[in-house]
Amino acid sequence: MSISAQKKISRCWVKIPATTTNFGPGFDTFGAALSLYNVIVLERTPQQAPPWSDSPAMVVETLKGFEKKTGASLPNFKWSLHSQIPQARGLGSSATVRLGFLAGLNALAGFPLSKEEILECAIELEGHPDNVTPAFLGGFILCGPKKVLRTRIDPKLFFVAFVPQVEISTELSRKILPPEIKLKEAVQNLQRASMIAVCFFEKRYKDLSGLFVDYFHEPYRLASIPYWEELKRAALEAGALGFYLSGSGSTLMAIAYEDPTTVVHALKSESSRRSLSGEVLVLKPDNIGLRLSYR
Ligand code: HSE
Repeated sequence: MSISAQKKISRCWVKIPATTTNFGPGFDTFGAALSLYNVIVLERTPQQAPPWSDSPAMVVETLKGFEKKTGASLPNFKWSLHSQIPQARGLGSSATVRLGFLAGLNALAGFPLSKEEILECAIELEGHPDNVTPAFLGGFILCGPKKVLRTRIDPKLFFVAFVPQVEISTELSRKILPPEIKLKEAVQNLQRASMIAVCFFEKRYKDLSGLFVDYFHEPYRLASIPYWEELKRAALEAGALGFYLSGSGSTLMAIAYEDPTTVVHALKSESSRRSLSGEVLVLKPDNIGLRLSYR
């Protein structure tokens, strides 16, 4: 039976995972979904209240994007956001909002958009396929122009995040990046990023060690993140396979295999020794991506 022949959906829940991107040299190319979630609930209402203009700008922009993509007006609904993902910390919070509203509205409207169209619309609005795509599909994603490759991540891999209190705007932190990169540095980034991709696609995680050195963005962005060298050294000495700036920051991410305990301990003690405010989160890969349920 087609959805149009069914009863109209009155309420839906969209659960979307956080993401981590870049992985050092894989700037704007690698992304992975993590076990930390935002849930957006949309419920059909008899009238539209409160007006859209009262919602945050990103929500309004997403609602307009949905109207434009479908060519139809929005159903009347109210919404709520249940958030675990810290905002403006390089963990993909804004991508979850775009995807959550698009997928939820699509359900309330009787599924006018295909999954591919939802992803396309979210990428157009967000501008960063490297965090939107893993949030939607789960797993590890290699983003290229007009094509993505995906692989599952072994649940034995842990992402240990140090999430500072400081917020960083992706838009502003892109403005400080240089317009050009030296050829020698670009070649080294290319070599390391290619190896990271092979490690994920062939599940050779132990070979990740030593590959997280970047010349594209970290040297410019890390200037505003105190003690990252000290936290990196502590994590690597404790056995982390890699350490990098997650997205545009401020989160610093360590990758651990099988047992994250020593890495967690190292990040907690180093951050407290340096009086750095922030929290350590122990996250697993999410291989499912966006979940939609409704009634
Ligand atoms: N790759 C982006 C950046 C983050 O580093 O600016 C959003 O995915």
